[in-house]
Amino acid sequence: MIELAPSVLSADFARLGAEAQAAVEGGATVLHVDVMDGHFVPNITIGPPVVASLRKVSKVPLDCHLMIERPDEFIPAFAEAGADWISLDRTLHLIAAHGCKPGVVINPATPVHAIDEVLPLVHHVLVMSVNPGFGGQTFIRSSLKKIELLSNIRESRRLGFRIEVDGGIHRDTVADVVRAGAEILVSGSAIFEQGNPSENARQLLKSALDAAKQPVQDLSSAVAGAADGANSLSLP
Ligand code: DX5
Ligand code: ZN
Repeated sequence: MIELAPSVLSADFARLGAEAQAAVEGGATVLHVDVMDGHFVPNITIGPPVVASLRKVSKVPLDCHLMIERPDEFIPAFAEAGADWISLDRTLHLIAAHGCKPGVVINPATPVHAIDEVLPLVHHVLVMSVNPGFGGQTFIRSSLKKIELLSNIRESRRLGFRIEVDGGIHRDTVADVVRAGAEILVSGSAIFEQGNPSENARQLLKSALDAAKQPVQDLSSAVAGAADGANSLSLP
C-alpha cells in the first residue's frame, strides 16, 4: 500500500494547520514531522508543542523523525504530545514502551546491513535519500539499491516492516522509489513550496500509484546513471 507523508518542514509554519489539512485533502495519509536540534544536524526546527498542535487539527498518524541528540530523554514528551510513529537509530524498545511505532533510520552513508539485527523489531525503516538537515536537496540515487535490498530482505526473512523514503521525492523521482519497493513517501518541498499542497499531494500520489502498477524493472541502469551518489559519504 502506497502512502504519501508530506514533510511539514517545507510548509509555512505560520499556517501549519491549514497547510497540513490541505495535503491530507489531497490524499496524504501520514504527516512527517522533522525534529532538529541544531546539534545532531545543522538546523533547528520544532518540538513537542508543535506536535501537540498538529495532533489537535489532524487525525492522520504523525511520523516524528527525530534528528536530535539524547533522543531517549525526549521520547516521553513526543509520545505525550501525540506522536504515532517515532524514527531514530536506537532505543526502539523505549519507543514501543511509550505506545508509538518504532522505526529505524539509515542515513545515506549507512549500509542496510548495519540494521540487520533490529529489523524484526521495527514497524518501519526510514531510508534517507538526502543527508538529513534540510528540505529541497537532490535525491541520492544510490538509495534505490538500498530500498530494493530491504524489500528483498523483508521477503526472504518474512518480516513485516514498512519501507519509508525521505528526501528529494518529487514527480521525477517518485516512480523509481516506488518501483524499488518504497511504500511511504515523505515529500516536503514538492508538496509545500509552490502552488496548492492539496493538488501537489494528489498529483504526486497519482504518479506513485501509476508507478506501482507498472512491472518492476531492473534498477541497475537507473543506479548506474547516478551522478549524485558521491555526496552520500559525507555523514556517518
Ligand atoms: C531532511 C528531512 C526531510 C525533508 C524532505 O532532513 O528529513 O523530511 O523535509 O524534504 P524534500 O522532500 O524537500 O527533500
Ligand atoms: Zn524527515
